[in-house]
Amino acid sequence: MLGFAPAAASGEDACLVVPSDDLAKRPGLKDQAARRGLLIGTAADRDTLFASPTYRQAIRRECTLLTPENSMKWERLRPAPEVYDFTKADWLVDFAASHGLLVHGHTLVWHSQLPPWVDAWTRRDHAETAMIDHIEKMVGRYAGRLRSWDVVNEAIDPGDGRADGLRLTPWLQHLGPAYIDVAFQVAAAADPKALLVYNELGLAYDDEDGARRRGHLLDLLSRLIAKETPVHAVGIQAHLSADRPPSFEGLDQFLGEIASLGLKVMITELDVSDQTLPDDMALRDCLVAATYSAFLETVLRHSSVVSIGTWGLSDPHSWLNEFAPRADGLPPRPLPLDAAMTRKPAWLAIWDALEPS
Ligand code: G3I
Repeated sequence: MLGFAPAAASGEDACLVVPSDDLAKRPGLKDQAARRGLLIGTAADRDTLFASPTYRQAIRRECTLLTPENSMKWERLRPAPEVYDFTKADWLVDFAASHGLLVHGHTLVWHSQLPPWVDAWTRRDHAETAMIDHIEKMVGRYAGRLRSWDVVNEAIDPGDGRADGLRLTPWLQHLGPAYIDVAFQVAAAADPKALLVYNELGLAYDDEDGARRRGHLLDLLSRLIAKETPVHAVGIQAHLSADRPPSFEGLDQFLGEIASLGLKVMITELDVSDQTLPDDMALRDCLVAATYSAFLETVLRHSSVVSIGTWGLSDPHSWLNEFAPRADGLPPRPLPLDAAMTRKPAWLAIWDALEPS
C-alpha cells in the first residue's frame, strides 16, 4: 500500500514513500496522541455502533474521545416539548464508559435538526424555557460523565448580514444575542466540571469567508469573556476539501489570538472531502492525506489544542456519503480508515503529524 511522506511533501508525491512496517501492527492514533498529551476522537451514533462490532473495535483501538454524531440532537431526543427520549444517548455514554472513552456532548444549542414543534414558539419565554430546560436536563443528566459539551454550535453566518455576524437562528430571533451567554451560564451551573465549548464551521481556509468568520468569532469570544461568560474552549470543525490549496495561515494566526484569550481548542469534526478529485483511488488517498498533514502541521503548532477529532472514523460512516456524493458514484474516502477498517494514507498523515517534535 502507498504510505505517506512527511509534511514536507505535498500533493501526488506525498504518497511516494511506502512505510517499511505494516501499519496494522502500529499502536492506535490514541497512543501516538498520548505522547503529546492529546486526545483523539471521532463521531458516531448508537445505531452505527450497535450494528458494527468491527467499527466499535476500531474506535476503541484508535480513539480516547467519542462524540454522539446525532444521538444528542434535539430532533433525536425531543419528540415533544415535555418528552425526552434519552435511550440512544444513554447507550452511547454507557458504551463509552465501558470502554474507557471520554465523551464530548454535541450539541446543546444549534439551529439545525430541531424538532418541528419549535416552530410553534410565538413568545420569548417559549424559546427561553425550552432552551434552559434542555440544557439543565441534558448537562445535568450526564454531569460528571461527559468531559465537554458543544454548548452553542454555528451561531455565526456572515451571509445573514448582521454587523456582529450572528446567524439568524430561532434562538437569536426569540432571545437576542444574549442566548449564547445564557446557554453557557446554564451549562456551567448544571456541570461545573465540564469543558464548555463554542463550536464553529468554516474557520480553516485562507479565503474571505474564512477571514470574516474568524473575525466575527474572535469578536464574539472577546465579548463573552469580557462578560465572564463561562466559555472554556473553541471547537474548530475543520470540514476540509482536498481540492483546495492546503493553506491555513489565517487559522494559524487565529489560534494564536484564541490562546491570548485563554481559551483551549478542540478540533471537533475533521474530515477531508474528495468529492471533486479524479477517480483514481490511490491519487485521492494521497491528496486527502496531504490535506490532513498540512492542516495538522498548522494546528499542532499551538499548545492550546487539546484534542483532534474526526467526523467519523471509517469512510462508509462519513456524513459525506449522503451530503457530498461523488458525481461518478464512487464512495467518498474522507477518513483515516476504509470500509474494512484498514489504515489509509490519511491515517499515516495523522500519525506522522502527532509525532512529538
Ligand atoms: O437515521 C435516519 C434514517 O432512519 C432515515 O431513513 C434517513 C432518511 O433520510 O435519515 C436518517 O437520519 C439522517 C442522519 O444524518 C443519519 O444518517 C438525517 O436525515 C440527516 O439529516 C442526518 O445528517 C446529519 C447532519 O449533521 C444534519 O445536518 C449528519 O449525520 C451529521 O454528520 C451532520 O453533522 C453536522 C454536525 O452535527 C455539526 N457540524 C456540521 C456536521 C455536518 O453537517
